[in-house]
Amino acid sequence: MSQDNATSAQSNGDALENLLHEGRQFPPSDEFAANAVAKPSVYDEAASEGTEFWARQARELLSWEQDFTQTLDWSEAPFAKWFIGGKVNAAYNALDRHVEAGNGSRVAINFEGEPGDVRRITYAELTDQVKQAANTIESLGVKKGDRVAIYLPMIPEAVISMLACARIGAVHSVVFGGFSSDALRNRIDDAEAKLVITADGTYRRGKPSPLKNAVDDALADGNSTVEHVLVVKRNEETVEWTEGRDLWWDKTVATASKDHTAVGHDSEHPLYVLYTSGTTGKPKGILHTTGGYLTQCAYTHKNVFDLKPETDVYWCAADIGWVTGHSYITYGPLLNGASIVMYEGTPDTPHQGRWWEIVEKYKVSILYAAPTAIRTMMKWGEDIPAKYNLSSLRVLGSVGEPINPEAWMWYRRVIGSDATPIVDTWWQTETGAIMISPLPGVTAAKPGAAQVPLPGINVDVVDESGESVPNGSGGYLVVREPWPAMLRGIWGDPERYKETYWSRFKDMYFAGDGAKRDEDGDIWLLGRVDDVMNISGHRLSTTEIESALVSHPSVAESAVVGATDETTGQAVVAFVILRGEAAEKVAAQGEDADTSEVVAELRNHVGKEIGPIAKPRQILVVSELPKTRSGKIMRRLLKDVAENREVGDVSTLADSSVMNQITQGLKK
Ligand code: WTA
Repeated sequence: MSQDNATSAQSNGDALENLLHEGRQFPPSDEFAANAVAKPSVYDEAASEGTEFWARQARELLSWEQDFTQTLDWSEAPFAKWFIGGKVNAAYNALDRHVEAGNGSRVAINFEGEPGDVRRITYAELTDQVKQAANTIESLGVKKGDRVAIYLPMIPEAVISMLACARIGAVHSVVFGGFSSDALRNRIDDAEAKLVITADGTYRRGKPSPLKNAVDDALADGNSTVEHVLVVKRNEETVEWTEGRDLWWDKTVATASKDHTAVGHDSEHPLYVLYTSGTTGKPKGILHTTGGYLTQCAYTHKNVFDLKPETDVYWCAADIGWVTGHSYITYGPLLNGASIVMYEGTPDTPHQGRWWEIVEKYKVSILYAAPTAIRTMMKWGEDIPAKYNLSSLRVLGSVGEPINPEAWMWYRRVIGSDATPIVDTWWQTETGAIMISPLPGVTAAKPGAAQVPLPGINVDVVDESGESVPNGSGGYLVVREPWPAMLRGIWGDPERYKETYWSRFKDMYFAGDGAKRDEDGDIWLLGRVDDVMNISGHRLSTTEIESALVSHPSVAESAVVGATDETTGQAVVAFVILRGEAAEKVAAQGEDADTSEVVAELRNHVGKEIGPIAKPRQILVVSELPKTRSGKIMRRLLKDVAENREVGDVSTLADSSVMNQITQGLKK
């Protein structure tokens, strides 16, 4: 880690220092604690059982076609194997076995489309539909181990497609529907996907919004590994059609046989690849396998959310394109036989009370959302949720970024009737499932802190040299022992896996997050210490956006920083040096040159290269960038500018006057 990043982690930490003396604590009510799934004794049990704790969970929570003979093989660390010799089918565990147990008529998915259309799908129906999809996918020549890209909106077919792949042992790679055709193509190429499952479109802010056109663009050169495109009909948009390649879901899946026997796959068989941003320009394909991942998803979903599948209605408001959607819309909840709510659209369509209307309508009892959404709703005003009956809610979850104590308190008071436990859950695409979180019937919750590692999880906060920090100090978040849902590597790049996560500290997984322990030993997450930004809980790398900017003919150089933003946590701010005609134009017009046109074009260019979520909030045209003598851009100083602070220490700059030029230039 560079000095630059360490310093920014430090200043981040200092800003949050005052939070660490948080005096408020919210223990669960006696009634909640008495009826809770997880009891206080679980921590001691896990500590004394070691990895056998996870073996017990694996056997209790999943049905294995063949039992495993060894819990963990860490002999080729950092490449882990869990539940060796076991055979298990993810789809059978999420579907068939619930039907066999007599729960086929329980609702699996309550789907609410943005225009207000609804679908209620029982476990029996969902099982049939997944079997049909599995038969179709197989008939298209997809075999066990082949990759399938899923580029779908938030509709039930997303869950059905994932489980159909898992059923036959094909590896799904879900690509967020908000990513551009270029981003989609990169992911298709990296995973060498044989099939793409998409939809004609979706609904966004009250209007039909096309999707398949992005797949057509991505595959336009005819040179990809993709053989077929399976298209769900979601709206009435006209679509281009490539005969022989494209197939309608309605005409294939919907008419396919409902007979399909699930066979157990090896515990370490790849389940999925999910791309996420790292510190370099190229997104990494995070690889998850079957047995360990399913075990930790099921365990955490049941214990962290205190799930009672017979009576709870659970809603995770994330998108299926992110890991939260994988682990806590599809796998965790369905493995546990829960009834879920799935909502297609935006929270303010057709009005700002849509979420709370959904909670009231479906009597949602467990809600899992991102701090950005909570802060947005805070801004809209508490009179909006006050119009709805939210008394069904009994557990609230938070994920994706640090939740500031104010938002935490608002969430509890306004949404949770001042009574519901809040679980602030820390984890990552790489960890596969929740790692740090209060247990709602056990932990006295502190606003803003994820607090305690889950039973069976060994995380720590260490200093530069890898030593544990004492209570009251800050450092880097690490994981000291392998865990069942850990990533098994980066698709096609084992070296990068070792280098990224296991080289910073010896024998420890480095998460990339700064953290502190308070006086009680509770853990507070302080944000990333690397070049990864967190925009509305979405991960984006600074270099990824810089590469997108310099791929535009008008940009000579660029530097991107994540600046603190009241609502989205961080926002993208880009500094660019122009070249070519654009630069000449600005030069000719002098200091008062109007750069708005080129700035608008660059924002759109980033949207095209990556997706609208990556569009910078601000692009500042500058004539120089601050660099060290070795040529490294000092983002810390640009962050000061972006956050309207006095610029910090410039002594290590090759040319210390550069920051002056930038701030003076911007003032004009
Ligand atoms: C951040 C999302 C603070 C963190 C599940 C992590 C959090 C990154 C929390 C992973 C939390 C996630 N408190 N920060 N409760 N949860 N993060 O891979 O910086 O999209 O490294 O996974 O989000 O983002 P990812």
